[in-house]
Amino acid sequence: MLAARLKPSNRQTPDVEHVSRSDPDAPVEPRDGEVNCPTCGNKRFILDAAGGLKPCPDCNVAQRWKVQALAAFASRSKLTQQQTFLNFRTTFNGQENPVLVQCLRAAERFAAQPEGRWLVIWGERGSGKSHLCAAVDNHLTQAGIPSLFITVPDLLAALRQAIDLQSNTEQESFTGRMNIFKTATVLILDDLGAEQSSPWSESVLFEILDYRYRNRLATMIATNVHPDEFDPRIASRMQDTALCTVIENAAPDYRRRPLSEKR
Ligand SMILES: Nc1ncnc2c1ncn2[C@@H]1O[C@H](COP(=O)(O)OP(=O)(O)O)[C@@H](O)[C@H]1O
Ligand SMILES: [Mg+2]
Ligand SMILES: [Zn+2]
Repeated sequence: MLAARLKPSNRQTPDVEHVSRSDPDAPVEPRDGEVNCPTCGNKRFILDAAGGLKPCPDCNVAQRWKVQALAAFASRSKLTQQQTFLNFRTTFNGQENPVLVQCLRAAERFAAQPEGRWLVIWGERGSGKSHLCAAVDNHLTQAGIPSLFITVPDLLAALRQAIDLQSNTEQESFTGRMNIFKTATVLILDDLGAEQSSPWSESVLFEILDYRYRNRLATMIATNVHPDEFDPRIASRMQDTALCTVIENAAPDYRRRPLSEKR
């Protein structure tokens, strides 16, 4: 499934690297469905104060390319696209569950302003962690903010596949994919701890999380492992309360609730 989505022929995203390196004076025709932009001359990138290239804020096209590029790796599905803050329930049998209210509020706060923040939600299976990850992802995607919602097993599979592909493009090489996971504007990592752990998986996960920690990059993590049981190097980063909010979702398994409660 993942392999099929990542085949070169399936790639639909424009080559951002190629565009950004093009002759700065050459006029650029807008691609299908893209606006004519006087600010960047349809190059979609402009020079920032430090002389680097940044996505043109007026047409926002490069930002959308980034959203599309991340979509190639996402663990999105029909189900996750329907999971929102609105249909996340906090009241059952007329009783509001304060644990669920707290989790929902934390996820909404993170989605409203993810920059420079980490959010970790841990708890038992079925308590609604993945639902909240998907709701954050859907909210950000609708707002045009590039977010990558991916389960840890999918992320590791994409990296293992990159080793097999032996390609050197940004989308297919191991280094390129690592860079995508390390630098995604917002990374939503579901099911951390559900992977088959090995020294290799621990080291790539540490490299990604450590990079994101050091650069204060927005990261949401859902897990059913108690935060104290993580690799101590990851656990210590989660304990940095200036950056990271850790909450327990102690709600019972939603799937086991009687039908009468779900109405
Ligand atoms: N509070 C809730 N309101 C509405 N649906 C919920 C709620 N909690 C869980 N669900 C639903 O129950 C199912 C299991 O939840 P999920 O988020 O996958 O649990 P977890 O990731 O914690 O194991 C999903 O279909 C999800 O949409
Ligand atoms: Mg889950
Ligand atoms: Zn522009």
